Formats: sequence, C-alpha cells, structure tokens
Amino acid sequence: MTYSAIGIDRISMYTPAYFLDIRQLAVARGVDPDKFTIGIGQDQQAVIPGSQDVVTMGATAALRMLDDIDPDRLGLVILGTESGVDASKAGALYIHDLLGLPHSVRCMEIKEACFGGTAGLMTARDYVAAHPDKQALVIAADVARYGLGSGGEVTQGGGAVAMLVSSNPRILELDDDTCVYSGSIQDFWRPVYTDEALARGKYSTEQYLEFFEHVWLDYAARTGRSASEFAAFLYHLPYTKMGAKGLKRLFEITEVCDEARSLLEERFNKSIQYSRRVGNVYTGSLYLGLISLLELDDTLQADDELVLFSYGSGAVGELFTGRLVEGYRAALYSEEHAAILDNRRQVSVEEYERIFNNVAPYSPQDYVADEKYFCGSFVLEGVEGQERKYKRIG
Ligand code: COA
Repeated sequence: MTYSAIGIDRISMYTPAYFLDIRQLAVARGVDPDKFTIGIGQDQQAVIPGSQDVVTMGATAALRMLDDIDPDRLGLVILGTESGVDASKAGALYIHDLLGLPHSVRCMEIKEACFGGTAGLMTARDYVAAHPDKQALVIAADVARYGLGSGGEVTQGGGAVAMLVSSNPRILELDDDTCVYSGSIQDFWRPVYTDEALARGKYSTEQYLEFFEHVWLDYAARTGRSASEFAAFLYHLPYTKMGAKGLKRLFEITEVCDEARSLLEERFNKSIQYSRRVGNVYTGSLYLGLISLLELDDTLQADDELVLFSYGSGAVGELFTGRLVEGYRAALYSEEHAAILDNRRQVSVEEYERIFNNVAPYSPQDYVADEKYFCGSFVLEGVEGQERKYKRIG
C-alpha cells in the first residue's frame, strides 16, 4: 500500500452570510476590544442563522466540487462534526441526499470534538490507499456555540470545509508519517441535552500545547526531520491566538534558525486570516487555515511540505504532513471564497443575539426558520413532527 500520491484533490469552504464585528461584541460585554482582537486574535465572527446547520453548510461547501465527483468512483461520504443534527442518523446522509449522490456509497458521521474532520480525512486516505481508483468526500462542519455572555462567546463561529480525496490529487499529497496522541481528559464537552459546549478554557489551552509537544517530539524522533525543513506549520484554530501559542511552543522545543522562523511566522500569519474573519469552525478550523494559507500566500511552491496539527478536545492530537502538488493553485476556489467572505452582511450585537436565540430547539416542538436569513445553496426550512426539512435554494 503506498500513500505517496493520495491526498486532497479539491478543497472548498462555506460560511453563512452574516458576521459580527468582534470589537462591538467586546464593547457590549464590557471588555477591552484589544483583548478580543489581540489577546484572542479575532476580528469578526460568523453568525449562524437558524436556517443553517452542519448539513446545509456542508452541502453548500461540497456543491462547488460536484463536477469533480465521479459517481462511479465515489465510495465514501464522511461528515466530521461535533455539532451534528441527530444523535443516531449520520448528517452525511442528509448531505448525500441534498447533493443527489449515488446510492452505492458509504455515508457516515465521525465525532471526536475538533478532531472529527481529521479522522475523516485519514479514513478517506486509507480507503483510497486500499481502492486507488476511488474518491472520498470528507466534510468538516460545525457551529461553535458557547452561549450569550459566556467566557467562550468570543470563540464562537461556524462553517464547513469540504475535501475531495483521491489518488493523484491536484492540491496536497498526504504522507503516511502521522503521529497521534490520545488520552481521556475533561477539557471540553457537550452533554447530549444541550447545543452549547462546556469548556475548561485555560486547561484546554494547556492540553492543546501538551498534545502538540507530544506529537511533534514523537515525529521529530521517528523521522529525524527538523522544523526548518517545512514550508509551513498549520494549527487547529479554535481562535487564532491558540495557533500562535502552538507555533511559539514549537520554537521553544526545537531549534529553528532565524530565517526559517520568520518564514514560518509569515506563513502562519497567512493561515489565520480566514479564521480571524469566520471564528471557530471546530473540526473545520485546521482546514480553513489550510485554505487561507494556500489562497493568500504567493510564495509557496510545488513540493513544499506542510505540517498540520489537529487537536480535538477530550482529547486526540494528530500531526501529519503533506506535499504541495505542481499547479495546485489552479485547483483552488480562491475567488469564490473571497466573495463568500466579502459579501457577508455585518449584524449588530442586538441582531446577533436575536439570531442566536432563534434556532431549532433541543426539544420536540416544531420550528420554522426565519426566511429573512436564508443563505447559501441549502437551508433548513424547519422541524416538523421532529423531522428536519431541508431544501435547495440556490
Ligand atoms: N489587550 C491585549 N491582550 C489582552 C487584554 C488587552 N486589553 N486583556 C487580556 N489580554 C490577553 C491575555 O493576556 C491573554 O493572553 P495570553 O493567552 O497570551 O495569556 C488573552 O488575552 C486571553 O485572556 P484571558 O484572560 O486568558 O481570557 P479568558 O479568561 O476570557 O479566556 C479563553 C479565553 C479562550 C480560554 C475562553 O474564551 C474560552 O474558554 N474559550 C473556549 C475554549 C476553547 O476554545 N477551547 C478549545 C481549545 S481547543
């Protein structure tokens, strides 16, 4: 089995059409805006209306790559999420239906906090290694909700990243040298009766860095490779300052010359730009960072190698590497993504709070989504008799 030419063939993202200025949120909460923009590292936060969930956002992100999906080759559809819409049925099935995908594919949902998307990507890679002619569609989608006025409110957001995985990919070849570190800890969790997460924020931050240290030192010991050999380090970004702490930790535990260090810092800075505007996409955050780097950086070249660090609370950390493919820029959706981000409407804190409170409830009652906030290509119209009703609008 060889992994050398398996990886991400296409990568597409979606985030809803509304955002909140993080400075306005700070003022409304009586916090110095510099804490949110500098201390946390965010500028804006995606506001997710009731018509949008991991299904609609995931389907909208994947719709763009439909022409590249070969119905005879597609074998797997995986949704990685920690904000799924059902405790039993895989959200991948709703997406499969909305996109009109063939019935001859496996559909499943993977949950492990912000690690679910990576678990999906690794599963897809192994699947294609076993079936080289096949394609797999992996969607990492989440709505990050902590609650109005909560400590985690500044680290909310939402969106989806869809990745098509195949042999001879056009964007990033994934290597087979991943290092994993797993251990049951209680840093972040969400009981099944609520849609708002519980977090021990400071503890989670420490554990993220500990897990990163474990996997990087393991990787360096096993491969003998040094950080300076890589063109960029990409981090899971629950908020961008978290990734900055990860890069800082790398420089503390490994020798990196000044030149390599400034290049890694420069590229890290490119990788956080989309997240600064979208906020937390939980399991999609690492991949939003990858898209941001690839679309905003014009210095990377074919064969440059990237390090990706995935962290899902609970917790699993995985570090893996990939190599850029000749001509990768032509396979990106740079213009479409810029338009998605630039064409969003800013909402006030009051409007954000109204939108936040008008979502399908965690109870059996019916729900009708407000049409005023319909966006993307698919919407949740509502919940009727405890069944979700989706439709295509664009
Ligand atoms: N100007 C600039 N920076 C400021 C500031 C100001 N006026 N006021 C505070 N800061 C800095 C702090 O020094 C701190 O920086 P540091 O982390 O480098 O030390 C940072 O802002 C955050 O301040 P802190 O007081 O630690 O924030 P907090 O108690 O509000 O907690 C989180 C921040 C991220 C822990 C909290 O929002 C949270 O729990 N989020 C959810 C947890 C999460 O995302 N977990 C997933 C991890 S994978």
